[in-house]
Amino acid sequence: MVKLHDLEFEPYLDQQAIESSVKIIAEHIYSDYQSKTPVFLGILNGAFMFLSDLMKFYKGDCEISFTKLASYEGTSSTQNINTLLGAGNLEGKDVIVVEDIVDTGHTLEHIVDVLKTEQVASYKIASLFFKPEAYLKSLPIDYIGLEIPNKFIVGYGLDYNGLGRNLSEIYQLKPNLND
Ligand code: IMP
Ligand code: MG
Repeated sequence: MVKLHDLEFEPYLDQQAIESSVKIIAEHIYSDYQSKTPVFLGILNGAFMFLSDLMKFYKGDCEISFTKLASYEGTSSTQNINTLLGAGNLEGKDVIVVEDIVDTGHTLEHIVDVLKTEQVASYKIASLFFKPEAYLKSLPIDYIGLEIPNKFIVGYGLDYNGLGRNLSEIYQLKPNLND
């Protein structure tokens, strides 16, 4: 059991379960990209631990970059402009977006909207976790580690209000007995 701020979380996935999912994704990507040099683009902050482990299992040539999605208001105040901070020049690259978790898919959609303007050679999406019950989009997620129920999790990069990212296992929000 761990307590973060006001909430309690219970163990959900141990290191071995996480590692075997990460390894399967690495092998799957390698079988698709062995003749290429993909750029793994980790979405900060959540994906830092996943991408780090993914790279230990990825056997081919590749580049690694991290980025943060930032949103700001454009000149017409109705339109938000999204940008990928620090991603570098992705023109002509085979990009693999690395996400910790896809929930509603809003974040992913913003990322893909930016990538479409970057003249990349190709892009695919890898996410360690996916909550199918929460997903509101139709964008395909090419590499998924684990499909999980629509419950809040922390650890292995994922946080609750800033805490929990450093936990090496995944914890799930404890059901509230009053609910
Ligand atoms: P989406 O835009 O709804 O798909 O949410 C994606 C982002 O919300 C993720 O990149 C996470 O930062 C955060 N998120 C979604 N579900 C969880 C969760 O269960 N635990 C921690 N963060 C989450
Ligand atoms: Mg995130």
